[in-house]
This record gives sequence, C-alpha cells and structure tokens, in this order.
Amino acid sequence: MNATIALLPGDGIGPEVTDAAVGALRAVADKFGHTFNLDTYDVGGSALDAGQPPLPDATLAGCLAADAIFLGAVGNPKFDGEPPDRRPEASILKLRRELGAFANLRPARVWPGLEDGGSLKPEVVKGVDVLVVRELTGGLYYGQPRGVADDGQSAFNTMRYSVEEIERIAVVAFESARLRGKHVTSVDKANVLETSRLWRQTVTALAERYPDVELGHEYVDACALLIASQPSRYDVILTENLFGDILSDESGAIVGSLGLLPSASVGGKIGLFEPVHGSAPDIAGQDKANPIGAIGSAAMLLRQALKLDAEASAVETAIAAALDAGCRTVDLVPVAGQPPIGSKAMAEAIIEQIAS
Ligand code: IPM
Ligand code: MN
Repeated sequence: MNATIALLPGDGIGPEVTDAAVGALRAVADKFGHTFNLDTYDVGGSALDAGQPPLPDATLAGCLAADAIFLGAVGNPKFDGEPPDRRPEASILKLRRELGAFANLRPARVWPGLEDGGSLKPEVVKGVDVLVVRELTGGLYYGQPRGVADDGQSAFNTMRYSVEEIERIAVVAFESARLRGKHVTSVDKANVLETSRLWRQTVTALAERYPDVELGHEYVDACALLIASQPSRYDVILTENLFGDILSDESGAIVGSLGLLPSASVGGKIGLFEPVHGSAPDIAGQDKANPIGAIGSAAMLLRQALKLDAEASAVETAIAAALDAGCRTVDLVPVAGQPPIGSKAMAEAIIEQIAS
C-alpha cells in the first residue's frame, strides 16, 4: 500500500510522542512492505510561535489531501491569556469541525500486567475494556451564541443538539457495541437539561434498530462515580462532547495512566488519530512521556483509516510484549527490580517487537 499520512506534532510532549508513532509506522511499513509518505505540518502553539494562525491553511490543506492524520497534542499555558481564536486549542476544534469528524472513539482497557498500576484495587480493574464514544463536533464546544458580555461581568455558552447529530453518533456507538460486548450506556443529564432529554429520547428510539444490543441510561454524575467504583460494568459509553471529554480522562485514571489512551476521530472526510493525554507541558522535553497512547493511536490509524488490520494488531501485540517484558515509563508502576525507562526506550522496545 502507498498511503499519505499528515503528521501534526504540535506542542509540549506532542513532538516526542509523534516521533514514537512515526517509528512504529515505519517499522510496520518495513515489515509489511508498505510505503507511508509522512508529511509534517505546524499546528497549535507551534504554529502561533511561527507567526501563523493555530491551524494554518497549509496544515488544513495537507490534512485534507492525506489518507489519515496523526496529531501529537496541542496546548501551551503561555497562550492562556489570549482570545479563543489565538489559543492552541482552536486548531484542533477547527480541524475536527472542518473534517466533520463527529465521532471520537476512546478505548480504555487494562493491559495485562498493569492491573495494579492505577489507584484502584487490581480486582476492580481486572478486565476493564471500555470504549467511550464521544460526540465531537457539537454541544457546548461549538454552540452559538457564545461570548462574554460587554461589561465583562458575565459569559455564556450554548449547549445545542439536533436529533440528526444525536442519531449519527448513537449509530456509531451501537455499531461498535455489536462488535464488542453488545452493551451501550448512554450518559446524559436528562434530569436537568433539555438537550439531554432529547438525547435520551433519540437514543431510545434508535435502539429499536439494534435489538441485539442492550441499552442503559445513566446520569453523568452517577456515571462518574460508577466508572471509578465498578468500571467493568461498562462496554460502550455513548455521550455528548463535554461529558465525553471528562469521562474519557477519568477512564485513563482507571486503566493506570492517561498516557496509555489512544483515540480516533472519525465520521468525517479523513480520520484524525491522536493520544488522549494532551501536551503535558510539565514533562515536555524530558523523555518522560508515555508513548503508548500515541503508538496505540497509530494502530487505530492503521486499522480504521488504512484498513490494515493485521498491521494494527501487530502494533498492539508489540505494546503488550514490551509491557510483558517489564518496560515501564515513569507514569506506570514499576516492575520489582526493573527501573522505569524513558519515553524513547519504551518506543524502541515496542518498535523492536514490531520488527521481530
Ligand atoms: C481532548 C482535549 C481537547 C478537548 C482540547 C485540547 C481542546 O482535551 O481531546 O480531550 O477538549 O476536546
Ligand atoms: Mn480532554
């Protein structure tokens, strides 16, 4: 296969974990005889630093011409005081919208050997395998009107969802559940919000098309509690944009580290793949970042955008093998007698496994 992948390393640890993902993609290309053309573009704070907007035109054009997009991370506290359109985050919000990538898939599973790596008891996390299906191009993130009142004394955002937006993300959740545990938990705040009542009604009606999938509903506050106390009760969690942002970070804590989580943003023109962890400026440039979320995102890219199933599985098997050999970055609980390793060493261990 000959495929073009747009690389958007971005900010903080974004470039480091992008290097790790590129190493994995190159190893896959070598081993399986593919050609991946990797084109790198500025995004986020690194674009702003270069005197460009957060999502430069050339970056968007490169993304639209690619077969898949890999993004490291965006975000840099030095832009905190800037208006919304001059912040690194504006890039990713615009990119999601331009692509029409309305479905964000965030799988969180406990890798064998990492059961005792998080703050929960091993017997509680054993076997956890959750897929958060987050609506990505609607809700409070995009709803109009939004703004700050002229006197600066109040500010407002709008949560808005249409039946069509709810249906299309619910379809993704039900279809995903069919290939997994056949259970969808739809998460909302229907006891308070109109958008959530429409969400619940729409999802309930749509469920009739999926008699083989069991549907449950939970309020987001209850779900936040239950995810942390009984995570194995979940298969697919279907939820709106902001709730999904929060619950997917929470699922990172449950499986041991946010650094482990990959994601895919699909449903639009071109798939966008990125680790969930963000730019982590506090550890940037220190060879501490866990590259597994990024390498796992590369696996999702191979499977979902390029339809290279065996290649994706080879990457995931390589991650498992490196963990099995006792490789641990500092965010993971070390194996007795084995000191933690750096980001590069972890990536190399995984890449070696892909090549072997
Ligand atoms: C994420 C991030 C983004 C979001 C930020 C960087 C805009 O937190 O992908 O979860 O809120 O969606
Ligand atoms: Mn987030």
